[in-house]
Amino acid sequence: MGPGVRLAALCSLLSAALSPALGVSSPLPIDPLVYEEQLLWVSGAQGQVNTYRIPLLTFTPKGSLLAFAEGRKASSSDVGAKVIALRRSTNKGATWSPTSFIVDDGTQRDGLNLGSVVVDEEVGSIILIYTICFHEYQCSPASTMMVESVDDGFTWGAPRNLSVQLGVKNFCPGPGFGIQKRLEPGKGRLIVCGHGTIEGDGVFCILSDDHGRNWYNGAALKSIPYNQKKKALDFNPDECQPLEMLDGSIVINVRNQNTYHCRCRIVVRSFDGGLTLPLDTLYFDYALVDPVVAAGALQKEGVLFFTNPSSENHRMNLTLRWSLTDGKTWENKALQIWAGPSAYSCITSLNSGSANDRRYIFVIYEKGHKEYFETISFAKIHLYGGKE
Ligand SMILES: *[C@@H]1O[C@H](CO)[C@@H](O)[C@H](O)[C@H]1NC(C)=O
Ligand SMILES: *[C@@H]1O[C@H](CO)[C@@H](O)[C@H](O)[C@H]1NC(C)=O
Repeated sequence: MGPGVRLAALCSLLSAALSPALGVSSPLPIDPLVYEEQLLWVSGAQGQVNTYRIPLLTFTPKGSLLAFAEGRKASSSDVGAKVIALRRSTNKGATWSPTSFIVDDGTQRDGLNLGSVVVDEEVGSIILIYTICFHEYQCSPASTMMVESVDDGFTWGAPRNLSVQLGVKNFCPGPGFGIQKRLEPGKGRLIVCGHGTIEGDGVFCILSDDHGRNWYNGAALKSIPYNQKKKALDFNPDECQPLEMLDGSIVINVRNQNTYHCRCRIVVRSFDGGLTLPLDTLYFDYALVDPVVAAGALQKEGVLFFTNPSSENHRMNLTLRWSLTDGKTWENKALQIWAGPSAYSCITSLNSGSANDRRYIFVIYEKGHKEYFETISFAKIHLYGGKE
C-alpha cells in the first residue's frame, strides 16, 4: 500500500466517520460530474422569438421536469413583448417535449417577466407567478400574475391577477422557484420571494396558506434608501432564491445589486415561515463571489448547492459549489459547468427518495460562446462522479 493509497483509505474512513455528524446521508463523497447536457432553447432560431432568457426549472409531484423561459419576441431587452416557453420531460431530462407557449402578452411595450415556479405537493399543482409591466415602460400599473397546472404541467389555466389581493406593487418573483414549507413553522405554506422595482427595490415574499387561492404579503428586506434613487454601493437586495433548511427555517440567497460591502451574495434567513427577515440574520457570503446576477440554489438532503457565474465582474464561469455546513463554509472543490459566457441559473432535483433520484441534480442556465443569452442549456449532474 503506497502512501497515496493509505491516505485515500484514511480519508474515506474519516469521511465515513464524519458523515453522520454532518447529516450527509450518502456513503460516497460528493464529486459532481456533468452527466448529460442539452440545449433546450436557441435564441433567434425558433419562430418569432428573438431571445430566450430567464430559465426556470422544477420537479413535479409526478416526477417530471418542467423548464420555462421568457421568449423575448423582438430583442434581448428586459422590456418588450414576450411569451412564456415551456418544455416538459417525463424521463428525468433524457428527452423533452416540443416548446409550448403557455402565456402570450401580445404586443405589450413592457410585457411579462419571469418569475417563480412553485410546486404544491399537498394537492399536486404547479403554480407559475410572473409580473407584467414591471418597468412601467409605456404602461401602468405593474401586476403580479399567476397561472396554474393541475395535470403535471401539460395544460395551464387562464392567468389570474394577484395584485387584486396583494395590492398594486412592482414585484418580480424569483427568478427561480418558490417553496412549499415541508416543516413547521408554516407547514404547507407556499412562499414566493422576489424583488421590487428599481427604487422600491428589496426582497419581498408573498405567501399562501390555501394552495394558492389567497395570497398575502410576507417578509420584506428593503433597500436603503428605500423608494429613492440608488447610488453605487448602496444596499440594494434584488433577485433571490429561497430554500427551506432541515430545521424549518428559510434561507434566501440574494443578488447584491449595487455591490454593497462586497462583490458577493447576500444571505438572509426567516425563522417564522417567511413572515419576517430579521436584519440580524443577514450576512455577506464572501465565498460566493458574484458579478450581480440571479443565481441558483438548492437544499437536498442536508447539502446546499449553489450555481452562478463565479467571477467578480463578468457573467462567465458557471460554477457549481456545495456546502456540508448549511452554507457556513463551502467545499474547496467546485465544478465548472461552463467556462464561457453564462448568467442566470436554476437548480432542481427529484425527491422520490429512490436511489436514482438521490444521485442527480439538474441545472438550467444561460449559456453562450460570445454572449450569455445565446442559448438555454440543461445539465444533468451526477453527484458522485458517475459512480453508482
Ligand atoms: C390587476 O389588479 C390591479 C388591482 O386591482 C389593477 O390595478 C390592475 O390594472 C390589474 N392588472 C391587470 C393586467 O388586469
Ligand atoms: C471560476 O470559478 C472558480 C470557483 O469559484 C474559481 O476558482 C476560478 O478562479 C474562476 N475562474 C475564472 C476565470 O474566473
